[in-house]
Amino acid sequence: MQILTTAAGLQAYTEQARSRGQRIGLVPTMGALHAGHLQLVQAARAECNEVVATVFVNPTQFNNPEDFRLYPRVPEADAELLAPAGCTALFVPSVAEIYPQPTVLKFDFGPLERVMEGAHRAGHFNGVATVVSKLFHLARPHRAYFGQKDWQQVAIVRQLVADLSFDLEIVARPTVREADGLAMSSRNRRLGPAARAAAPLLHQVLVAAAAQVRDGVAPAQVRAAAETALGQEPLIAPEYVEVADAQTLQPLETYVPGRAVVLCLAAHLGGVRLIDNVLVE
Ligand code: PAJ
Repeated sequence: MQILTTAAGLQAYTEQARSRGQRIGLVPTMGALHAGHLQLVQAARAECNEVVATVFVNPTQFNNPEDFRLYPRVPEADAELLAPAGCTALFVPSVAEIYPQPTVLKFDFGPLERVMEGAHRAGHFNGVATVVSKLFHLARPHRAYFGQKDWQQVAIVRQLVADLSFDLEIVARPTVREADGLAMSSRNRRLGPAARAAAPLLHQVLVAAAAQVRDGVAPAQVRAAAETALGQEPLIAPEYVEVADAQTLQPLETYVPGRAVVLCLAAHLGGVRLIDNVLVE
């Protein structure tokens, strides 16, 4: 596995691979890798000849400086996991390499970002769109792999690709979970034992809510029941629970036959902010 640290190095590497007719798969990450990330690498490996993973804790997408500071950084362990998963090149740039100057361009994704993560984390998707655009331009992948764990992020990135005519295909892969249902997340490493023990409730609440959606229980009632269930656990402070159209991400008041529903939540557990979602098709 080639380790690349400069933008020019990444460009040269992928340009050369392209000219040899190789198909390039890109897996953008912020590191502290787990099985959720690695399945993206494996999917890329199955479909592309070159798999470029990026590990970059992107400062512009953090609205909370403390969250940025405490974000787990384990570069050696990441590199050791990536090679056996089929990664052929790892891009680990410095902040100065990605942001040689402060960016002024601002993305506005309209209704897609006025809800959930976009509404609760000011500037978050602007930072995501900025870094993802830079990575797409530098690596010019044929395919880029994202996880449904960040459902709204996938919708935003798809919109970005469509609006800016990036010549690539977005592949979205399902959420990988721990045995007890907790969605794998780099931030799980920061959970203390008590918060970790309480954390599976997030998924349990979503599963119960999904059953209610299937039974036709009204969205407002589903939201309220989920909030009440989360409220039973003193270590969990819910930020939002949303019953939304899976495509437009807009909150639902009633169900539209034939349209998929996504149930999303964000909650704080002992100083760590986690998100999760389940799809009801
Ligand atoms: P990060 O949180 O490191 O996630 C990198 C990719 O892995 C994202 O596409 C995310 O959805 C996916 N992922 C994380 N946990 C997962 C899980 N349990 N199951 C499946 N996929 C999972 O998302 C980001 O980084 C950043 O916003 C990034 C896109 C890299 C831009 O900085």
